[in-house]
Amino acid sequence: MTSALVRRIAVILLCVALGGGAWLMWQLQSATHGSQDPVARFLERHWEKPLPAQGMPPAHFNKDEASLAPAACAECHAEQHRDWDTSLHSRTMGNGILWQARALSPSAVAGCLNCHAPLAEQKALLARALNWPDAPATEPPDYVPPDLHRQGLVCAACHVRAHKRYGPPARPGKLPGDAPGLPHDGYQEAVAFSDSRFCATCHQFPEDGTSLNGKLLENTLNEWRASRHAAEGRACQTCHMPGRRHLWRGIHDADMVRQALTTELSVAQAANNRLQVRAEIRNSGAGHYFPTYLVPKVWLRLVAVDAAGDQRIQLAEAVVSRETDVWLSEERSDTRIAPDAVRVLEAGLPAPAEPGWQLELHVDVAPREHYERMFAAVLRDNGAQLDAVTRGMLEAALAEARASRYTLVAQRRALPGAIAN
Ligand code: HEC
Ligand code: HEC
Ligand code: HEC
Ligand code: HEC
Ligand code: HEC
Repeated sequence: MTSALVRRIAVILLCVALGGGAWLMWQLQSATHGSQDPVARFLERHWEKPLPAQGMPPAHFNKDEASLAPAACAECHAEQHRDWDTSLHSRTMGNGILWQARALSPSAVAGCLNCHAPLAEQKALLARALNWPDAPATEPPDYVPPDLHRQGLVCAACHVRAHKRYGPPARPGKLPGDAPGLPHDGYQEAVAFSDSRFCATCHQFPEDGTSLNGKLLENTLNEWRASRHAAEGRACQTCHMPGRRHLWRGIHDADMVRQALTTELSVAQAANNRLQVRAEIRNSGAGHYFPTYLVPKVWLRLVAVDAAGDQRIQLAEAVVSRETDVWLSEERSDTRIAPDAVRVLEAGLPAPAEPGWQLELHVDVAPREHYERMFAAVLRDNGAQLDAVTRGMLEAALAEARASRYTLVAQRRALPGAIAN
């Protein structure tokens, strides 16, 4: 890999990685009355960066209780595991980050891992896999499965510290965490698990974190705080973990995007046998900007489709994204829709000559558009200098990013046809 490429990647990636240390200080200050707030104090300890190693499990733990593997948790928490397994939190160590981990310096990658694979045991395994100088010389202990670093944001990263379990307060009717005889010595109940700030350690940059055009690169908690949803008591978990389910659906999921938007289509007859069409698209259901990050790009398109579905005429288009150049050095536009804000599309057209035409509002989503461009640029400019394994991962990551695109039809209604005939 050329040093120029390493420098360029390091720039973008360090930008991202800056969401680390300073965050907790800032979180404390901006939390209600600083460190007196018990949730802030809990989270400061819980999301220490980097997390300390778990150490040896208590001697009386059996194999499943001691293991940090999601599959071991699944022996008793099958439902959470089934959901987690379908979520992107189980894929945070995919090709998209792994090819970069091979190209970057260990210290830069360590910053990435704070969000993508935060356990000390995961870092140690990756260090061994990539032959980093500080890699432990010995095999991992029994409670660490050898592929834990590939398993992403595992259960233990959110729930286990020094082999103790932490979770939300017990549901009504359930045994409390200190009830005698529970597996893994029970658990500590913490209201912080139901608080939006729990997610902020990875989904919000600190106030002095990297920004472009005066706006932080990751600002989801702040967007949420300014929205109606915060005032009405709807936390991140309310929408992303309904009924405490471990789903975390977002921009990659058509149903979730449908849930974000309320749309209204109207058609009016105008002079000279013409029609005037209009679409209103409101961000009524996302607790932050639609979308919150600069990674996705969305196109809203008004399309006329004939009865057979053969002819499609695009009438109007709007881009919804915070678009930057590949290396995050400038913001080109920001057309994201703020919570409860409305985007309008309008167009005029001749009334169709035959009946059966439909007006459709298409939402075309590219959930990883920024990465499509960045990965393609590296492949084009530097692909030849990458080793075969790294290049293979980069190619796979690009293909996966492109394959994540989809279209949903948010609404359709009939167009009056053959008006004057
Ligand atoms: C041998 C069975 C068993 C294994 C293995 C196990 N647990 Fe548990 N866990 C329980 C039981 C029983 C409870 C008590 C509450 C309940 O019934 O859900 C519990 C409670 C919890 C809670 C608290 C739930 C709440 O209501 O707040 C969390 C969090 C938790 N476990 C996480 C884990 C994680 C993470 C793993 C794997 C690293 C794991 N557990 C492995 C049986 C197990
Ligand atoms: C990104 C962090 C995160 C990961 C990863 C995660 N959880 Fe959770 N888990 C939470 C949060 C947050 C809650 C509480 C949600 C709420 O209060 O609405 C929770 C709740 C729970 C509960 C209590 C559920 C209930 O119905 O009362 C259990 C048990 C649990 N998790 C086990 C697991 C297991 C097992 C895994 C892995 C398969 C896992 N968690 C992965 C964050 C996480
Ligand atoms: C502060 C937390 C944080 C840090 C640090 C971080 N990321 Fe991420 N990363 C995220 C979040 C959140 C997303 C999801 C963005 C979205 O869905 O729009 C993401 C998404 C990605 C993706 C796209 C998804 C995929 O798997 O292809 C890649 C690639 C990625 N990050 C690489 C990195 C690299 C490389 C670093 C370190 C240089 C890094 N990230 C550091 C939080 C972080
Ligand atoms: C330890 C870091 C970490 C924590 C804590 C965390 N996340 Fe994430 N989250 C990530 C990363 C990294 C990704 C990107 C996954 C990918 O695309 O590879 C992600 C992805 C997501 C996505 C999917 C985004 C998409 O593009 O579709 C949602 C939704 C989400 N997180 C919500 C939450 C919520 C809600 C919480 C709190 C309960 C939370 N996360 C806690 C790191 C974290
Ligand atoms: C009122 C419901 C609601 C609340 C509250 C909410 N979200 Fe979302 N979120 C959505 C919907 C709907 C989407 C899909 C549309 C989109 O991407 O904006 C989404 C998408 C996302 C994504 C996908 C990436 C992207 O660029 O949009 C992430 C990450 C995310 N939310 C994290 C969070 C976090 C963290 C919080 C709390 C600070 C939160 N959400 C609060 C409804 C909500």
